Amino acid sequence: MKIGIPKEIKNNENRVGMTPAGVFALTKQNHKVYVQSTAGIGSGFFDEDYQEVGATILPTIEDIYNQSEMIVKVKEPIAEEYGLIKENQIVFTYFHFASSQPLTEAMIKSKAICIAYETVEDEEGTLPLLTPMSEVAGRMSVQQGAKYLEKPIKGRGILLGGVPGVKPGKVLILGAGVVGVQAAKMAAGLGAHVTIMDINMKRLRYVNDVLPNHVVTDFSSEYSIRKHIKDHDLIIGGVLLKGGKAPKLITRDMLKEMRPGTVVVDVAVDQGGCFETTKATTHEDPTYIIDDVVHYCVANMPGAVPYTSTIALTNVTLSYILKLANFGWEKACEKDKTLAKGLNIVKGEIVYDELVGIFD
Ligand SMILES: NC(=O)c1ccc[n+]([C@@H]2O[C@H](COP(=O)([O-])OP(=O)(O)OC[C@H]3O[C@@H](n4cnc5c(N)ncnc54)[C@H](O)[C@@H]3O)[C@@H](O)[C@H]2O)c1
Repeated sequence: MKIGIPKEIKNNENRVGMTPAGVFALTKQNHKVYVQSTAGIGSGFFDEDYQEVGATILPTIEDIYNQSEMIVKVKEPIAEEYGLIKENQIVFTYFHFASSQPLTEAMIKSKAICIAYETVEDEEGTLPLLTPMSEVAGRMSVQQGAKYLEKPIKGRGILLGGVPGVKPGKVLILGAGVVGVQAAKMAAGLGAHVTIMDINMKRLRYVNDVLPNHVVTDFSSEYSIRKHIKDHDLIIGGVLLKGGKAPKLITRDMLKEMRPGTVVVDVAVDQGGCFETTKATTHEDPTYIIDDVVHYCVANMPGAVPYTSTIALTNVTLSYILKLANFGWEKACEKDKTLAKGLNIVKGEIVYDELVGIFD
């Protein structure tokens, strides 16, 4: 199959759909891979790295779409890309159709085969192509939170790990899913005192089993959250209600209960956020302050670490890309029900149940 890797053109997106290691796996099986010139540069991969493993470098995005039977990318296509997508072309990427009617309509019109990373789902209901981005965001949330706790950027002026003779900072994590557990690991590694909350006892048991003793679990309720926010320095929101908006666990009035300079990182911002005062921010201007509480609410946190994120993404997408390339989309989806869940729009028709009629 002919596979095309375009350069991402969405503002500040430095990830790329495939690493040279992924290209190597495809060319080894006699597939033809076209990579747009400089597509990988933001992630630390140069045209020569791709050429060395058998890719052909093409100069423009139009060349990539014109030559390829399957397009593999990262972000949902933006308006400039709509017209490039062809009938019967496979497009494998994050789409997030439910949040964009224009994109949905454009992809219906294109008659392409749109397979969305975010809805590829296995039998246990986990989303294997979303997990690595949650891992990145969870780990990053502590790195960012620790930085914004510094005084010059209006934080409390606390070193999370403390020093001998000075007690460490306290981190409260809402949600013990992928984001929450990764955040807890990082915070514990820095030596912080960590409290992690969930309503799912299985998750709390898991945390209790695998994380060190200075990570304390607590069942999530409004009462216990109100109690903890008073003396925690960094509060990380990583809750998710599958298919729904995040519950508002920290309300506006609660900010007054926190100490000035407390930092809140709302990783769940992409699902509306779990703090009432959350509004999405960007990497250029990541924070704002309300009631002396520093809010960090960047909606695409993994975009700031494209090298790590691109490799983490290709690690999980590659096996599906190989199946699509080897068998074609119909056979591949017949053989692999997890991949089949990724089918959203096929030749002008919405085939993903949750999307049917959503914009009627
Ligand atoms: N901002 C970003 O760049 C970025 C990147 C990746 C993921 N995310 C988002 O982070 C969020 C979390 O993702 P995840 O992969 O960890 O999800 P997950 O499903 O693995 O975990 C969510 C957890 O929240 C728990 N939860 C639900 N209601 C709760 C409540 N009232 N109190 C406490 N816990 C509750 C669930 O039981 C679950 O364990 C999602 O909204 C995801 O889209 C954001």
